[in-house]
This record gives sequence, C-alpha cells and structure tokens, in this order.
Amino acid sequence: MEIYKITSPKDWSYFANGSANILFKYTGTNDYLTHKLLRLRLLKQDEEYISTCELYDFIELKCKHLFPKQIIDIQLIVLTSEFVRGLDSAGFQLQLNERYGLLIPNILDGNYTKIGLSKHCQLYLGTDDGGGGDNTRIYSGSKPTKGTQQQEQSQSQQSQSNNRTQQNQSNPELSTTSNNHSSSSTNDLFNTDLELSQSHINNNIIPDGHSMNEDIANLSLNSSGTINSIIFEIKPKWLYDNKSANYCRTCSLNQLRNVPRHFCPLDLLYPQTIAQGLDDIFSKIPPEIIDLIEVQNKFPLKKLFHQFLSNPDHNVFAKLKQYQKINNKNDLIENLTSSSDVSQNLSLVMTLRDVGLFIKFEKYDRNNNIHNSHNNINNLITLPPTPLPESSQMNGSGSFDSMSATKSLHNHDQDQDQPQQGQDQDQDQNDQGNNKYLVTCNIYDLDLKSRMKYKYWLQVEHELQGIYNSNNPNWRHCCKYGNLEK
Ligand SMILES: Nc1ncnc2c1ncn2[C@@H]1O[C@H](COP(=O)(O)OP(=O)(O)OP(=O)(O)O)[C@@H](O)[C@H]1O
Ligand SMILES: [Mg+2]
Ligand SMILES: [Zn+2]
Repeated sequence: MEIYKITSPKDWSYFANGSANILFKYTGTNDYLTHKLLRLRLLKQDEEYISTCELYDFIELKCKHLFPKQIIDIQLIVLTSEFVRGLDSAGFQLQLNERYGLLIPNILDGNYTKIGLSKHCQLYLGTDDGGGGDNTRIYSGSKPTKGTQQQEQSQSQQSQSNNRTQQNQSNPELSTTSNNHSSSSTNDLFNTDLELSQSHINNNIIPDGHSMNEDIANLSLNSSGTINSIIFEIKPKWLYDNKSANYCRTCSLNQLRNVPRHFCPLDLLYPQTIAQGLDDIFSKIPPEIIDLIEVQNKFPLKKLFHQFLSNPDHNVFAKLKQYQKINNKNDLIENLTSSSDVSQNLSLVMTLRDVGLFIKFEKYDRNNNIHNSHNNINNLITLPPTPLPESSQMNGSGSFDSMSATKSLHNHDQDQDQPQQGQDQDQDQNDQGNNKYLVTCNIYDLDLKSRMKYKYWLQVEHELQGIYNSNNPNWRHCCKYGNLEK
C-alpha cells in the first residue's frame, strides 16, 4: 500500500517510541487507517541498521508460524521521502532514506489510563468514556524516554534513550493536562518506572501535596463507565529452565543496571511458582488501584491472570521459552567470536528474548461479535458465579485462592457455538453476573537484531559473570528448575 496516496503526514501524530522504532497514531478520517499505528525506524548507524523490509520478511517468514494467532498483524507500506519528512516526530530522528513502514493495529486503542509498574511491566485500565473522550485528562509521571504520547522529547533525548542510566525515584511526580486531539487516548497515571522516569522535560507537574488518592478519585469520577478492559504490557526477556544459578539472566541484568526488583519472569513458567510471580507483579500496583479494579469494579484480575498462566495452551511465557531454546553450543553467546558466528537460530532466539506482550483481560460482552468469534472461543474464561469475600480480593500481594481456581472452568475444549442444554442457566448467570472474561495476548516488537551486536552481547555476558551466583540480601534467588516440586 502506498500510504502517501491516501493520507497526509498531518494525519499522524507521535504516539510512542522505543530505542529503534517510533510509532505514529492515525488521527484522520479514513476508516481503514482508524485504530492503526505507523511504525517507522529511528536513525541508526549504518552497520547496525536493519531495514523495515528485512524486519517484515523476518517476522512473516521466521516468526509468524511460531505464534500464528498472537503475533500482531503487520502490513508493509510504501513511503516517500516527502511523507517521512512531513511527519511530526517530536524531535526524534527518523531514518529518512527508509522507503517502507509497518502498519499495525493499535492495541491501546480506546480510553486507557496507564500505570507504569516497572521497566518491563505496565498496566492499562480501560474504561467506557461515555462516547466522549475529547477532553480526557491525562495523568502522567515524569516524561519517559519510551512510552506513549510523550511529546516534549528533544533530539538529544534520543541519544540519552540509547544510553540510559538508572535512578531511584521514590515519589513519582504527577502531572495533568488535557488531551484534545483524538477520540481515544492513553493516559499516564503514575509512572513508577524507575528507569524510564529520569531527567525529562515535564511541564505540568502538580505541586507537592497532590495525593495519589485524589487522582484515583478523579480516575473513577472522570470515567462515566466501568473498567471493562485491563491490559498488561510485559517484556518477558530471557526464559529458560534455570538449572543452577542463584539469579536468572533477567534478574542478574537488572541488578547490574540497578533496576529495582519487580518480578522474576521464570516464576511465570511453572505451576509451582506462578502465584509467587503474580504476587510480585501485583505488589507494585497501588492498593487503591487494586481496590478500584477488584472491589469497586468486581474485576478479578489476579485470578484471571492465574488462570491464563495455568493453562498450558494459554501460557505464552512457556511457549516463548520453548522457542528461545538454544540447541547448539555454538549458539551460546560466550562462544561467539565474530558476527558470522551468529546463526539463524541465535538471531531468532535473540529476537524472542526481546519481544513485548500485551495481555488483555476483558469482561465478556455477549453483544460483541469479536467476543463471540470462533477465534476467541478458546480464550474465554468463566469464573465461579458466587463472588468471593471482599477480604480475599482486596490485597494485591495476597495469595491466590487455589480452591476457586480449581472450581473455575476453562472453555478451551468447548468446540460448539451453542452451550449444551442444561448449561444454559449457568451461561445466563455468567453473562449477567459478569463472570465470563475474554483473555487475548498479542506479541509485538519482533525486531531482528543486527549480527554486529554480538560484541555488545559478549560484553554484557562478561559483566554478568559475577552476578549469576552472587547473594544479594535484597533480592530473592530465582527458582531453580531442579528444585521445583514435581
Ligand atoms: N501495536 C501496538 N499498540 C499499542 N502500543 C504499541 C504497539 N506496539 C508498540 N506499542 C507501544 O510503543 C512502544 C515502543 O514500541 P516498540 O517496542 O515496537 O519499539 P522498539 O524501538 O522496538 O522498543 P525496544 O527499544 O524495546 O526494542 C511499546 O513499548 C508500546 O508501549
Ligand atoms: Mg524492538
Ligand atoms: Zn529471575
């Protein structure tokens, strides 16, 4: 598709960026492009540059068949230099000679409020906005180098973002402004993300004394509807069976970079450790937000997440681990001696070690055709109709109620469109009682890495050697595969 023939650069506004890509959100009136993002490459040194065409082929030919339903749809589109130059890139430098871009669905389309939990984990709360949205308040922490709708970035910040250092920020600054450029929005509520919240321009800081509770009250007051959709954005990083080290690769790297502990990704792999992993993930959600979700909105988020991970057909972390497997000693980073040693398998594994996931939990809506589609039949989770006592739902760091989990029912082996007779009553109860949920998972950021990065990979591995088997009193050891109860 030649995008410049159907839209002008003015129809695209800066949405988000990472270290290698920038995303623009469509604000025009073309139905086909509404709800889509344009993903373009940021300027990189020649030897490290991977073109959009190479990325596209790699995703379609090497990755898509591994996760046919989960990898986000991508469409290759043709650009002109004039179109690229006309985009407002919020100070970021684009690869101006690039003639292609990717069109992808915006998973955060709608009215979402963002809560930054940590470097690799964000939470988004989706509310009905009563059809409005033009004046949605935006709550934001200090401007991150990577995130959504951070528009005051300067060019110098692009190089900072490639060279980030960690800083501790115990009191996230809150800011507020209004969003009046689109019918959908993503709002930052608290950015407690330590890596991302440093040294950025922040025009709208609310003076000290503006309490968290006021903002939560505003969140619920401003949203005329209930929370009906919740998304976790997680980068699972390196997933493997840890045979002997005290710390896994991700926890070791976080310690090296002074990134505070949030959760160990390995805990999300095994039935014995899932509850611990979720306790850790939920421990960073402010208690007021847990209350808003689980009590006020009766949205049993932790239980649903546990269900999602406990089903081997759903657990995307376990599946990623399977494809991240190194079969050959030559594919161990420590054995690389030149860029030509980087095999096709290692390239794929390095990409899968850096993907991002959107895991979306929605209240089932029987009138929504997408919820009823055949594709989603395996993604429905029905929890028991009787609500749990509030006390077991209020504490985000409380343990998961395994009895109710066992009682709850996965519809994954239901292979018919209509419920059987006798199930009808339950079905109605579930629909009315909001006990039925849809869980969908999208994998994004499947970027092929330049083989020239092998030197950097070796360097990091070298720096990690002293950490894998260290003992940090403030950092729990990661689970060891051999110690898991069978
Ligand atoms: N399809 C999507 N819908 C909504 N938001 C998205 C989508 N894809 C990416 N984003 C947002 O944009 C951010 C940057 O995108 P992306 O991860 O693709 O950039 P990147 O340069 O590859 O990042 P990294 O430096 O982590 O490799 C993501 O963290 C995410 O918040
Ligand atoms: Mg990437
Ligand atoms: Zn770990």
